[in-house]
Amino acid sequence: MWARFNWYGETLLLTTTIGSGLYNRVKWGQLKFGGKMDSSTRFLHAIEMGVGAWAWGDRIIWNYGGSYTDEDIRGAFDTSLEKGIRLIDTAEVYGRGRSERLIGEFLKETEVPVLLATKFMPYPWRIRKKALLRSLRHSLERLDVESVDLYQIHFPIPPISIESWMNELATAVEEGLTRTVGVSNYKESQMLQAYSALARHKVPLASNQVEYHLLDRRAEKSGLLARCHELDIRLIAYSPLAMGLLTGKYTVDSPPPGMRGRKAARILPKLPSLLKVMTQIGQDQGGKTNAQIALNWLICKGTMPIPGAKNAKQAEQNAGALGWKLSDDQVAALDEASEVLTKNS
Ligand SMILES: NC(=O)c1ccc[n+]([C@@H]2O[C@H](COP(=O)([O-])OP(=O)(O)OC[C@H]3O[C@@H](n4cnc5c(N)ncnc54)[C@H](OP(=O)(O)O)[C@@H]3O)[C@@H](O)[C@H]2O)c1
Repeated sequence: MWARFNWYGETLLLTTTIGSGLYNRVKWGQLKFGGKMDSSTRFLHAIEMGVGAWAWGDRIIWNYGGSYTDEDIRGAFDTSLEKGIRLIDTAEVYGRGRSERLIGEFLKETEVPVLLATKFMPYPWRIRKKALLRSLRHSLERLDVESVDLYQIHFPIPPISIESWMNELATAVEEGLTRTVGVSNYKESQMLQAYSALARHKVPLASNQVEYHLLDRRAEKSGLLARCHELDIRLIAYSPLAMGLLTGKYTVDSPPPGMRGRKAARILPKLPSLLKVMTQIGQDQGGKTNAQIALNWLICKGTMPIPGAKNAKQAEQNAGALGWKLSDDQVAALDEASEVLTKNS
């Protein structure tokens, strides 16, 4: 079934049967007004990198309160802002609200304007109407702000349909609770469904936040990244340092602690070949670290990495990925080194 919509004065042709394969017939680029990016989402494309706040309060994976404290996190926050990082990505579930609460406290003590992105977790039991708006209001309370800059659906979890969540996101924009809306962990077909559902409300889909780094290039290989570029949807790359592995500080003999160690066991023996190429390129670039190479590679791919930082030192080093660019040849060399690694894994 095809439907006509009028978005910013243009008559658009959309399909309401996405998922049946029909969406391939839609010229998605036509959905953009006059071929231009929507002005409300432009700020996201101007941000080269943000900082991720999952570890700011999370004990289970990141050992908050054990290997680092609120003071360390405060250092990461302050240094990120000092070095020009303006966007912080958090979620209602990070540290069960602790991450948002800490950010709210830190914000009170800075004059620097900060852009806030947070997320709604569509738990299967959240079936009551307006569940999303209620959760968003709780996030705003913890952050102690009146609105955020980006509100994202954390995962595409059933049973509530993508369309229903998009209707609620559109209401959040209409009520001024968020400036823009996005999704996370959505594959291409789900993202297109979200895109057209929001278009019915004249609301652009601003972003899709997915795992993307030198050890996981599914976003690139599946065509998702190309579709994001086509539709001006900002691809936000999460775990851009592969949860610390791409810094080069973890080895087979010294794996990351806890659950991360188990996840890394398969890849750690194969990692040195990629790290060798990264280190060489870092030297050729005048002494850049592996983390900076990993992040700059993502920027060169046209994405926004949001590395996590637990302290000032990590935040400072990660911010050093800005202000310069890998050459095309260096990007190609990293592509090749990562290709070999993922193929053999
Ligand atoms: N939407 C989603 O489903 C989803 C999923 C995951 C993450 N995310 C977002 O993406 C953000 C980043 O991802 P992530 O935290 O999973 O992983 P990441 O950014 O790949 O790695 C962060 C970790 O690496 C280590 N590290 C960071 N910078 C370093 C440096 N310069 N030198 C040495 N070690 C350094 C730190 O841990 P150690 O010191 O303990 O090694 C840090 O916590 C999250 O904070 C969150 O905002 C979203």
